Formats: sequence, structure tokens, C-alpha cells
Amino acid sequence: ISKEEVVYLKLTEKVALITGGAQGIGKETAKKFLQEGAKVVICDYDEKAGLATLEEFGNENADFFKVDVSNSAQIAKVVQATVDKYGRIDILVNNAGITVDGFLTKMDEAAWEKVISVNLSGVYKCTKAVAPVMLQQGSGVILNASSVVGLYGNIGQTNYAATKAGVIGLTKSWAKEFGPKGIRVNAVAPGFIETGMTAAVPQKVLDFMKDKTPLRKLGRPEDIANAYLYLASDDANYVNGTILSVDGGLVI
Ligand code: NAI
Repeated sequence: ISKEEVVYLKLTEKVALITGGAQGIGKETAKKFLQEGAKVVICDYDEKAGLATLEEFGNENADFFKVDVSNSAQIAKVVQATVDKYGRIDILVNNAGITVDGFLTKMDEAAWEKVISVNLSGVYKCTKAVAPVMLQQGSGVILNASSVVGLYGNIGQTNYAATKAGVIGLTKSWAKEFGPKGIRVNAVAPGFIETGMTAAVPQKVLDFMKDKTPLRKLGRPEDIANAYLYLASDDANYVNGTILSVDGGLVI
């Protein structure tokens, strides 16, 4: 293999929009994408965390926009700003997500609707805004955040499980709809990953999940970022409509 054939970076010059990129898995994904040569636009409704992340990265290829993924007008603005700056969007990572847990009998309609509006409608709204750009390019990659909970269900997570199973439906539908147009659509189904989201889960439950996981450990945000990197890169050129479990073997 000649020196010219050695490939160093996986996302050189690719433009990526990452929702919920201020913290946790999204932040780690943004970092990994920047390290691989991408231009990254972080969209998050937590402005303080977003600006802190931008400062920490200290990278001219990173931008931050205060965006609530349940707000179509805010999404339209960041999509337009990204196209104005770079002329394209190659990768959309629909990562933003929340939990408002509770047993069904105690889950009020506000808790149901809040989680649906972010985790499911947010994915629909962001993709609807970005898809025309990708269709015009004739290329693109859309990545969605599902969950082990979307595959298996979980006590106290009626709303969250419904959204994460819904994301699987969107992913497969879009893989069929956009595949002929050169756009790949895939999802990642993480197990229990150490982030702010799982910090809210009782230690007892986390220990139980760890014991049920064949690898006997929780995942790290980097583990999921690596999966997104693979699916976003040309290494996954023939991967479309898949739900990649990254859960230490929890769901087998
Ligand atoms: P996190 O809570 O650490 O980070 C989520 C980020 O999304 C935060 O920066 C938050 O400000 C942002 N966000 C929330 N709602 C938003 C909205 N409406 N608009 C814009 N930004 C918003 O969560 P984590 O753990 O990094 O999760 C990321 C994704 O991965 C979520 O979709 C989650 O459901 C999924 N996931 C996480 C697992 C875990 O164990 N941590 C397991 C399976 C899936």
C-alpha cells in the first residue's frame, strides 16, 4: 500500500448537524466527528452547556445553535444557517432525547406528550427540514437514537419506550424512501450508558442492568459515538435501515 493510499480521517469535509450535542452521547459524537475532519453544527436547547462545549472544543470547525428540536421554526433557522455557511449537510444525527419516567397509572398526559414531542416529533421535524437539502445533493446520512428500551420495553418508561420503538419505524421507512436517492438511514440502540440521563436512574437499577449485561459493565458515551462514526462514514456505504445495538449484549 502506497503512502497515498493511507486514509487518515473518516469524515474529512463532511458537514454534520448533531442534535442534543451539548452533553453526553451527542457531545462525544461531536468530538469524534471533529477529530475525523468534519464540520460540526451542535444544536441543543441548553445554551449554557452548548457554549461551554464549544469553548472546550476550541475548534473553528464547530458551531453551536440554541435549538429546541420540538420547534420547527428554530430548526429551519439552523438548517438555513448551515447551508448558507457550508452549502451542504452530509450527516444528521437525531440524538436529542429526554426521559420523564413514571408508572403508567401515574403518568399524566403532559409527561406523555413532552417525551413524544422531543424524542419522536423532534426526529420527524429535524429530518423533514434536512431531507430536502440531502435530496438535492443526492447524498446524505441520517442517524437516529433508538434504545434498548425501544426493542425490549422498560418498567416506568411507557412514553420513552414508545418513542424509541417509533424511531425504529421511522428509520426503516426512511431507509426505504430515501435509499434510492443516495441517502442512508440507520439507528443506534444503546444499552445503559453513563451520562446525565442515566445519572437519574437509581443505582439499584443500574447494578441490575450491569449484572444482566454479558459484558458486565455500563457503556460510555464514546462507545455510542464510535457507532455513529462508523454509520456516518463511507465504511458503512452498504448499511441501510439497520438498528445497531451497542449494549454489551444486553438484548440477546
Ligand atoms: P443527556 O441527557 O446526557 O444529553 C441529551 C442532550 O440533549 C442534552 O444536551 C440536552 O440538553 C439535549 N436536549 C434535550 N432535549 C432537547 C430538545 N428538545 N432540543 C434540543 N436539545 C435537547 O442524554 P444522553 O444519555 O447523551 O442521550 C442521548 C440520546 O441517546 C437520547 O436520545 C437518549 O434517549 C439516547 N439513549 C441514551 C441512553 C443512555 O443510557 N444514556 C440509552 C439509550 C438511548
